[in-house]
Amino acid sequence: MRPMPDKPQYPPTIELDGARLRPLRVADAGALYAYLRDPVVTELTSYPVVSAPMVEVMIERSLGRWAAGELSKWGIALQRDDQLIGTCGFSEWSGVHRWAELAFDLAQPHWGKGLMRQAVAAVLQWTFRQDQVDRVHAFVRIDNRRSERLLQRSGFVREGCLKSFRVCRGQPHDFYIYGLLRSDWAAAQPVRADESRR
Ligand SMILES: CC(C)(COP(=O)(O)OP(=O)(O)OC[C@H]1O[C@@H](n2cnc3c(N)ncnc32)[C@H](O)[C@@H]1OP(=O)(O)O)[C@@H](O)C(=O)NCCC(=O)NCCS
Repeated sequence: MRPMPDKPQYPPTIELDGARLRPLRVADAGALYAYLRDPVVTELTSYPVVSAPMVEVMIERSLGRWAAGELSKWGIALQRDDQLIGTCGFSEWSGVHRWAELAFDLAQPHWGKGLMRQAVAAVLQWTFRQDQVDRVHAFVRIDNRRSERLLQRSGFVREGCLKSFRVCRGQPHDFYIYGLLRSDWAAAQPVRADESRR
């Protein structure tokens, strides 16, 4: 039997190009609320209409999950001022079944610059190297083409369509399920110089 890996107590900070993945903070609530209340950000998702207290609960829940050794979300912040502009990470996970559900969102002014692709690549690299999950999947509304393109470019494969899978602000919607296996992710990674010498 595979030994249980050490569970992370907190996510690491990972520098990207112009931004960073870092733990969420209670002080991020204002910035998170400011962009999640923008209907453009949530219109193709199953996110509920948010309120300021709801956002605080979301952050506390995420921090609690990391503290319990569970996978959860990172904040995405600009390197220049550490201001929160997005989140990326896991909305659900199963340690028993070794899968995690990827979720991401970004303030609209930062779309279209390749930022979330970097964030997803960094999250996958850290998570698969932790040896806690063998599979990452994401559910994406069938009309959310931006998210689909991002998942496809990140190596995810469309596994099927789930009819009326989630109710989005009162209306049922079909969702695609996209999955990525750890073995397929590992096979697609360039061989590192230090590994090739072994
Ligand atoms: C989905 C979402 C996270 C995508 O964020 P993003 O940062 O724009 O995504 P990417 O990193 O894939 O950026 C890719 C886009 O940047 C462009 N781009 C510009 N410079 C780039 C660079 N240096 N590298 C890569 N892409 C670059 C690409 O051409 C691409 O444009 P396209 O999507 O029109 O083809 C964002 O649109 C969002 O928050 N949407 C609302 C919430 C949501 O739907 N969440 C998902 C629920 S499942």
